[in-house]
Amino acid sequence: MQKTPKRYLITAALPYANGPLHIGHLAGVYVPADVYVRYLKGRGRDVIWICGSDEHGVPITIRAQKEGCSPQEVVDKYHALIKKSFEDFGIEFSIYSRTSKPIHYQTAQEFFLKLYESGVFVEQESDQYFDPEANQFLADRYISGTCPHCQNPNAYGDQCERCGTSLNATDLINPKSTISGAKPILKKTKHWYLPLDKYQPFLENWILKEHPEWKVNVLGQCRSWFDAGLHPRAVSRDLPWGVPVPLEGAEGKVLYVWFDAPIGYISATKELTPDWETYWKSEDTKMVHFIGKDNIVFHCIVFPTMLHAHGGYILPDNVPANEFLNLEGEKLSTSRNWAVWLHEYLEEFPGKQDALRYALMANLPETKDNDFTWKDFQTRNNSELVGILGNFFNRAVVLAEKYFEATVPQPSGLDAEETELLEQIPRQREAIAEAIEAYRFRDALKEYMQLARLGNKYLADREPWKVIKTDKERVAGIVYVALQLAGALAVLGRPFLPFAVRKMEAMLQLPTTTWDELTTTVLSAGHKLGVSALLFERIEDAVIEAQVARLQRNAEENAKKSMAENAVAEPAKPDVSFEQFEAMDLRVATILEAERIPKTQKLLKLLVDTGIDQRTIVSGIAEYFPPESLIGKRVTIIVNLAPRKIKGVESHGMLLFAQSADGVLHIMSPEGETENGNQIG
Ligand code: 2FM
Ligand code: ZN
Repeated sequence: MQKTPKRYLITAALPYANGPLHIGHLAGVYVPADVYVRYLKGRGRDVIWICGSDEHGVPITIRAQKEGCSPQEVVDKYHALIKKSFEDFGIEFSIYSRTSKPIHYQTAQEFFLKLYESGVFVEQESDQYFDPEANQFLADRYISGTCPHCQNPNAYGDQCERCGTSLNATDLINPKSTISGAKPILKKTKHWYLPLDKYQPFLENWILKEHPEWKVNVLGQCRSWFDAGLHPRAVSRDLPWGVPVPLEGAEGKVLYVWFDAPIGYISATKELTPDWETYWKSEDTKMVHFIGKDNIVFHCIVFPTMLHAHGGYILPDNVPANEFLNLEGEKLSTSRNWAVWLHEYLEEFPGKQDALRYALMANLPETKDNDFTWKDFQTRNNSELVGILGNFFNRAVVLAEKYFEATVPQPSGLDAEETELLEQIPRQREAIAEAIEAYRFRDALKEYMQLARLGNKYLADREPWKVIKTDKERVAGIVYVALQLAGALAVLGRPFLPFAVRKMEAMLQLPTTTWDELTTTVLSAGHKLGVSALLFERIEDAVIEAQVARLQRNAEENAKKSMAENAVAEPAKPDVSFEQFEAMDLRVATILEAERIPKTQKLLKLLVDTGIDQRTIVSGIAEYFPPESLIGKRVTIIVNLAPRKIKGVESHGMLLFAQSADGVLHIMSPEGETENGNQIG
């Protein structure tokens, strides 16, 4: 048994203030963290929960460029929107701050200076692209050009999204600045690097030896970073937007967003309480970072290295990162508008926060990516919240209203089954607590609902509405037992369903029973209840159909818009002759095997059945598809592309993908009855 920590410092990933929140954010980070925090608070633990907007970085400046406004205007707009959505949804941080505050600038700069003065950083000069017209250095995403591997004319400075190859901006043929269109020139620039390689032994020991209990997906990512070998990472950038590097001669340089953002947790704590150091520096604090899987490296490797190198800070006890949530079988996408936006949900389903919370909790992507569908949302609401929890709770209260003047009746003896049922209350409490403490929130919710299921079964078996005709005394016992379960559902529901629990408490006039006080008796005989009301409402088919239609409509409108934008922005490629086209041998094929190529981030080695032969193709798609998801997939390939060696593996052919405006890759699968080897043309 782990000792109960003296205090808890819980952080939730700071969302970028460059767009609204969607259900993916909620399921990945904020709903599980909120359940955890409500649970801890319910047990009287000393806990603070820190969050805020991440207001720096290239995504913000790109959004500003797109919307034709300043980065400050972007962050002001989205910070306000995000903050309000959290509040309306019932996510109650101890503080929701923002990284544009002076206290954050000061904290981040002091942190940098401490590392600088302790000689932690490695200084290095390198050649970087500079836009002579815009008079600024260019982040890799601000440079486009032709990919040297596949000739894609629209590759970015960090990656070609067609062939998946990871690039350096200097690899691009005919590079141009996406800010001014100018041809960039190379200019020397100095940056400060955090030498993660030096800290690898420390990190391996801390994570792999001291924290074998971390989630498998988190440990897996850490191991693959270790296997590939850590490298120094620049912690500064040449950008006009961010926290200035606090050194002389560093004009125009800012802290890299992933250096300043996690320090945002510290600055927000400072803003919250003068006692911030106790939370960040005492060994008896338990710190937990709730994040999505794309943030694992920063919270398990980069930030802990920063804290360790600085000295005096504790490290996280756990980083329970979740995988991603998909929507109706497809990746959530801001730019494709394939999302359920929280602020829109709150407008369209007023008062139904718990319905969404419940559907998300039941589908949390805890161990693998998961799918949200509107149909499932409806079923969870109608069959589980209304059909099980609401149904049981309301029946218990209405029976008391109807037969006992809304008072808890005095039972005249309970049978063995009833005593056993009541003893299930503390047992379920322990099962829920155990699951929450182990960050298994879906299991915790199941254990909670189990109590409502037992209650429903009990009433269905005992049929008090029939027994009342002959034996009111027996019904008193049944209603007494049902009300104890209802009381337990209110107490144990606090972490999960905060809005419904408020109604439950009002209906039961629940005394201030805490989680730990909960026993087999929650409401004593003679206790006066409140007035019954419906806990949850059904959601009708038409409402769900409208949401699905809206999603499709948004995506279509967005596709049209981005096609129109691309048509203007990107001229068509030069004509090819019919002979040139004919020279390509395109075929239908099936992927038989897929595995990662060790020590690479992006490459997969695929064994493909082309109908002609079985052959190996190396494809730079590892960041888009887990290898196992590709096995058995029908694809289209160019079979007569000359073989070439990639990372020592001979690749013969190329798979075709379409890339949507948000950068997501889609496999080009043939439709209908085709066989491997069928020619395309
Ligand atoms: O991935 C993101 O949305 C980042 N803005 C998360 C930052 S978390 C922390 F380090 F601040
Ligand atoms: Zn390419």
